[in-house]
Amino acid sequence: MDKIVVDQNLCIGCGMCYQNFPEYFEMNEDMLSVVKKEKITSEEKKEVIEAIEMCPVEAIVIE
Ligand code: F3S
Repeated sequence: MDKIVVDQNLCIGCGMCYQNFPEYFEMNEDMLSVVKKEKITSEEKKEVIEAIEMCPVEAIVIE
């Protein structure tokens, strides 16, 4: 099973991931993205790839 990782050092808090995909990401107290649902199925992976493509700083990866 794949795992979502957000690099807190890269995230600038643009909000695209947690606004568009709140099932996988949420905002922390610093307005940065944190992973809400770490383990994803292959179906969910398609949505997470969309989030990855939306992120302006490439802070989201699937491991
Ligand atoms: Fe941060 Fe990228 Fe999401 S900048 S808030 S990880 S879209």
